[in-house]
Amino acid sequence: MCGIIGTLLAEGSVVEGILEGLRLLEYRGYDSAGVAVLDKKGISIRRKAGRIEHLAAALAGGALSGAKAGIGHTRWATHGAPSDTNAHPHTDTEGRVAIVHNGIFENYAELRAELSTAGVVFKSETDTEVLAHLIGRELARGVELGAAVLHSLRRVKGYYAVAVLSQDHDQPRLFCARSGPPLAVAVTKTGAYLASDVLALIPHTREIVFIEDGDVAELEIGKVTVRNLDGKVIDRKARRVEWDPEEAGKGTYPHYMLKEIHEQPDVLARTAFDRIREAKGDVEFDTAGWDDTELKTIERVEIMACGTALHAGYIARYLIEGLARVPVECDYASEFRYRDPVLAGNTMALAISQSGETADTLAALRLAKELGAHTAAICNVNGSTLVREAQRVILTNAGPEIGVASTKAFVAQITAAYLLALRIGRARGTISKEQGQELVDELRVLRPKMEQLLGETAVKAVRGIAERHQNAKGFLFLGRGINFPVALEGALKLKEISYVHAEGYAAGEMKHGPIALIEPSMSIVALNAIGPLADKMRSNIEQVRARGGKVILIGSDEGSVQLADEHVKVPECSEWLSPILNVIPLQLLSYSIALLKGCDIDKPRNLAKSVTVE
Ligand code: M6R
Repeated sequence: MCGIIGTLLAEGSVVEGILEGLRLLEYRGYDSAGVAVLDKKGISIRRKAGRIEHLAAALAGGALSGAKAGIGHTRWATHGAPSDTNAHPHTDTEGRVAIVHNGIFENYAELRAELSTAGVVFKSETDTEVLAHLIGRELARGVELGAAVLHSLRRVKGYYAVAVLSQDHDQPRLFCARSGPPLAVAVTKTGAYLASDVLALIPHTREIVFIEDGDVAELEIGKVTVRNLDGKVIDRKARRVEWDPEEAGKGTYPHYMLKEIHEQPDVLARTAFDRIREAKGDVEFDTAGWDDTELKTIERVEIMACGTALHAGYIARYLIEGLARVPVECDYASEFRYRDPVLAGNTMALAISQSGETADTLAALRLAKELGAHTAAICNVNGSTLVREAQRVILTNAGPEIGVASTKAFVAQITAAYLLALRIGRARGTISKEQGQELVDELRVLRPKMEQLLGETAVKAVRGIAERHQNAKGFLFLGRGINFPVALEGALKLKEISYVHAEGYAAGEMKHGPIALIEPSMSIVALNAIGPLADKMRSNIEQVRARGGKVILIGSDEGSVQLADEHVKVPECSEWLSPILNVIPLQLLSYSIALLKGCDIDKPRNLAKSVTVE
């Protein structure tokens, strides 16, 4: 969950570019940061607890400037508290090798004991430092640098992406290796770059080489050589990544989260509109595996995901069962992978993930594949591990999502799931051409409704609610049917960015326990869309009010609006698509409360954007 970066330049100085790259990777982890550069004097390091800007301050005035090779790191602590000494890079005793690392060396305790017995004195509490010492000791025995790196990597076990900086005969050498977390490299005529995320590479080039598990790459100006751990050269082709570097900026918005919330109408269009085939009442994906013959035989869909993507998965369950009439299960990826699951019949295992790098989601999909399922993915990052491993892929095209709180990726995932449900339904004949045309039309007319919810009036209404409820003891989000997962998502958004306790509940379940929480200091957010469950939801709202609860209604059901103490009226739409509209005021509500509380919205405490460790 850390961010790693490395640069070699033919001319100029690397440190400024590494800092820029770290700023782009900071969403991955942000409790400390560091840089190591290599010049004629050897390796020099600066490390600082806290945000990248602390490190930038330590580098102000040209410190470390002039070096043409360097590595950098932004940390999400696993071993050892966030401190200057535990911040990466780490070195061997002689300071000949510097390492940055994302992940965990699971056998580090054993290696640390062995190295300590051999006289190595450790300077940090990290697992990372063992690799620096292992390489250092190989060099001390006269082993050539490349061989020392390979030998040492063969000794560490676990889940890692590392970059190694050293020199040989006065020449800088830069290596990276992967066993789990993401890693990509890119070369130009004047430089060579490695990073945990393509975001830090696309300012240099869009031709990216994705490093695979078990790969060790050596970077040179204009060239990358990939080997396996036994030293055998492997051919890894570059892929073109279409993201625009501009998209990774905040634009005129104060926070990425707000920018990404406002991008959602465009995201809907980018995910759906090119794929719609109106005349056929169908959709077409530009990737393989979605034809009638392939979809007709599917007997069951098993969805696996984490966090917000899991909530999109729950919505996908309603869509696929409701529209395509195929049975669907949906589970936390972290539970699925350890519950010894049974996959009967012809199962499509569908992983949903923004990043495509979430450790639990990847492990769950791999397990499903082992159990005989056909694998599929809904994912936002082309070239990610998930996209490379899944047999069928729907890219969500939401563009880079930087805010740790996922917003536009959620809307894109629901949109993709809607398209998928339609495609499966058309392939299996459960949706007629005419019904398909209606479903497609509903999607087309949604964009202006989303824009309306992002307009000044609606935003102001949400802000007012946030002001009045910012000091509530807690929040209970209630929804039914396809809006139950939206209640879960509303609660997750509020918790993660404003640190207010919130729970999402299926409204029908309320009287089995959570109703005991209801009192005037508890804020109740009720979701109600027009549809067969609207009456039931109205009864639930009545039950809340009868117990003194104050209700904030988000939805289009006029009856519920009349019952509520406050409301944001959502434009009417098909119930199947109502989650896309209903979630917008919830995202804005959590944003507004976090803002009022002075929270760090884009980098909430303890979190990281991409959870690449278990
Ligand atoms: O990259 P993924 O979609 O696989 O990430 C899954 C979760 O870690 C992610 O949705 C997380 O819950 C977000 N912080 C929610 O806002």
